[in-house]
Amino acid sequence: MQDHTILVNFSKFPDQGMKNIIKINKVINSFNKTIYVEGDKSLSIRWVLLSSLSKKTSVAYNLLISDDVKNAIECIKKLGAKVKINKKKCEITGVGFNYKIKKDLVLNAGNSGTLGRLILGLLINYENDFKLIGDKSLSKRDFSRVSTPLKKFGASFSSSKTLPLIMKGTKNPKSIKYFEKKGSAQVKTTIMLAALKSNGITKIKAAKSRNHSELLFKYLKVPLIMKEYKKYDIIHIKGINRIKPLNYKIPGDISSCSFFIVLTILSKNSKLLIKNININPSRIGIIHILKKMGALISIKNRKKYKGEIIGDILVRSSKNLKAIKCPTKYNSSAIDEFLVIFLVAAKSKGISFFKDLAELNQKESPRLKLGSKILNSMGIKTSLSQNSIRIYGKPDHVVPKNVLVHKFLKDHRVFMMSTIAALTFKSEGNWIIKDLDSVKTSFPSFLKRIKYLGAKLN
Ligand code: S3P
Repeated sequence: MQDHTILVNFSKFPDQGMKNIIKINKVINSFNKTIYVEGDKSLSIRWVLLSSLSKKTSVAYNLLISDDVKNAIECIKKLGAKVKINKKKCEITGVGFNYKIKKDLVLNAGNSGTLGRLILGLLINYENDFKLIGDKSLSKRDFSRVSTPLKKFGASFSSSKTLPLIMKGTKNPKSIKYFEKKGSAQVKTTIMLAALKSNGITKIKAAKSRNHSELLFKYLKVPLIMKEYKKYDIIHIKGINRIKPLNYKIPGDISSCSFFIVLTILSKNSKLLIKNININPSRIGIIHILKKMGALISIKNRKKYKGEIIGDILVRSSKNLKAIKCPTKYNSSAIDEFLVIFLVAAKSKGISFFKDLAELNQKESPRLKLGSKILNSMGIKTSLSQNSIRIYGKPDHVVPKNVLVHKFLKDHRVFMMSTIAALTFKSEGNWIIKDLDSVKTSFPSFLKRIKYLGAKLN
């Protein structure tokens, strides 16, 4: 880990100018509250991209207005879509299936792997060269996982592994057969979007991953056949040439919610109701894992919405948490939540073990490594390999020193996990966590919510 190491346990903090930094030296007091979190990021980005394909106007309520989604909006505007947005709703009038822009198209996906990858599928039939760029973190991530299938559809690349990437689509994309083995919804969706614009039937065999795209395609009446098996799904998609508009009320994001679930579990005498969350079974691995560890979580008011399941999540402080040998069947449905799950493991009795998690190091930062490093900086022992981690839990642990979290490639989830750690583990020192602006990626109101629950931050 060269240039994104976390430096920890400084006895004296350097002068930070106190901007874009938070300092925490006290765990949160008991709370009993109800909150909402912002809209689901996966659904928000998918809604923006799919709306750009309909010539009619689509409307979304509760769209997540974070940097990742703003970048998605900027990208589709460059493709010719018209966007009207205010705090309440967003309206997109798309361009249909073909693009009129001639040359010099540069798209910026910022920090978002989802946007960067999915937009390439959307542009399979764009016949000119275009360039895709992103921030420092995204520029380190693997794009061969999507350029490989896109080449089969007929795309060509002059650089295909990492950003900046130059791609040229094809007038007549041909349908393909593809086995997606990583369990990546980003790869699966990129292929599904390209399939939509191809001649014939694309056949995908995909290791399990979140299924929002399949549900949206079904709702939009795209000709799609899906068969679910224990470890993988089979998806057949027939290419089409138009799509209806997509009106959508975006539910709250379970990934944003996860920080508050763990905050409540690890705080004393507290209770929290988090309302209107997308509890799609392919996203709630965290709930299964934490319940197995003894956490008090229940779901109320379940209802169906356009194929998704929405509910309210009730969480209570949970004592006597026990370590877990985490079943790998939950890896995909908890992939964005492992950092906070590791905090619960650190507070549990016994040694927890999480394996087959190589994909965690492929995220906005190498999260398996950085998660382990943060735990170590707190005085929690771990043993780490390329794809697994053992966490030696200590229910009454007191962090013995100051902890400084920085150089984490501005990974929003590393920032939020560190904040939750600082608010739930007693400490003899202070926490200083840099790059507060990272939360703008997925959860701009994170700090406001934390303060509403009573957290004291400097
Ligand atoms: C996402 C899929 C996951 C997840 C990411 C969002 C999506 O990535 O980690 O935050 O919206 O499709 P992978 O598909 O690479 O696992």
